[in-house]
Amino acid sequence: MTRSTNDQPQRGDKGSNKARSRTVRERISAAFETITGQRPAMWIRAPGRVNLIGEHTDYNDGFVLPMAIDRSVWIALSFDRPDDKTVTLHSIDFDETDEFSVDRMDRSDRLERIEQNQTSWIDYARGVAWALGEAGHEIGGFRGVVGGDVPIGAGLSSSAAIELAVARALVAAVDGPWDPTVMARLAQRAEREWVGMNCGIMDQLVCAAGQRDRALLIDCRSLAAEPVPIPSELAVVVLDTARRRELVNSAFGERRAQCERAASTMGVATLRDVDLADVEAHAADLDPEIYRRARHVVTENQRVVRAADALRANDARELGRLMDESHTSLRDDYEVSCRELDIMVELACGHDRCHGARLTGAGFGGCAVALFERRSAGPAADEVVASYRRATGLDARSYICQAARGAAVVEE
Ligand code: GLA
Repeated sequence: MTRSTNDQPQRGDKGSNKARSRTVRERISAAFETITGQRPAMWIRAPGRVNLIGEHTDYNDGFVLPMAIDRSVWIALSFDRPDDKTVTLHSIDFDETDEFSVDRMDRSDRLERIEQNQTSWIDYARGVAWALGEAGHEIGGFRGVVGGDVPIGAGLSSSAAIELAVARALVAAVDGPWDPTVMARLAQRAEREWVGMNCGIMDQLVCAAGQRDRALLIDCRSLAAEPVPIPSELAVVVLDTARRRELVNSAFGERRAQCERAASTMGVATLRDVDLADVEAHAADLDPEIYRRARHVVTENQRVVRAADALRANDARELGRLMDESHTSLRDDYEVSCRELDIMVELACGHDRCHGARLTGAGFGGCAVALFERRSAGPAADEVVASYRRATGLDARSYICQAARGAAVVEE
């Protein structure tokens, strides 16, 4: 997706998350009434996510520690055309309406369109309908209006949020059963095979299964997700560099391929099956670049497990230290950072109220995540953002995030 009205810099919007989502819902509601002449029969919310630690480990069957956030995609909908399998969806962010029939999903022209970079916001919805249909799930049509406040292209998983929101709507249309893990897998399939981004499972799983006030320690091999409470004295702050991500798909694919090469050279299925000593022992067999990629993955897996322990023990210093190490490893070994992310992380880490900071998500632009003491998080984040603006001239923003629950039908 390339354009969004919610992608524009909005100063001072970091304060009241509740007020902001009320505004988004009011805009969606007004559009819904204009288009259909009715009030919505149902609301669905699916969150974005921020990853505390564990980057580029999910597609290596490793560990991640993300949380769903209180920035979301919302869909207002009605089911006023019984037995009609048509989805009609209007996006307030793109000001476009599109329509498709869920029982006639055809993927045949997608590969060509992916190659030509022709992916529109509606492809996230179509892809999910296709993946659910392929897996034999009964789904139905609806009329809906979608919008949200997850910044697009910032690395906060606006894609997973729209995918899970649409999945929830398609299933709600037939009053079907909802299993977050199953749905996360299908949304991931949609993203890989319809949208063309060869992602891991982290974003869709936390968007589907997130819990209030908790991060999720996910084992991406078994998909077991253990909730880890976030101590109330800590604030998780997203620092948006305002540099939108570029070349993510191609560089992401290249990193994946490098990890697969490392694993096959070492004679294992995935890098989850080795530790640092194994990587060191194979150093001579691995191309130096591949060696560094593998070193990042195995050390990052270790850091995630330690970070979950630190969070449980309310040891913010240790957690912050691990986040700093993670950034260094992503910058130097995995090479997915960029100048803006490095500046933001350095400024955050230099602030005396910050426990640690790192890039979050795929990298190559987007956001950093930082851990602050809650009582001083607002002014501290403002200071970091102001210094960043002076250093780069870019209109950065900060969002203090609460851990939120996963995709769900919400009461009015
Ligand atoms: C993107 C992908 C995820 C994960 C992260 C990096 O967000 O969608 O699956 O690989 O990058 O950790």
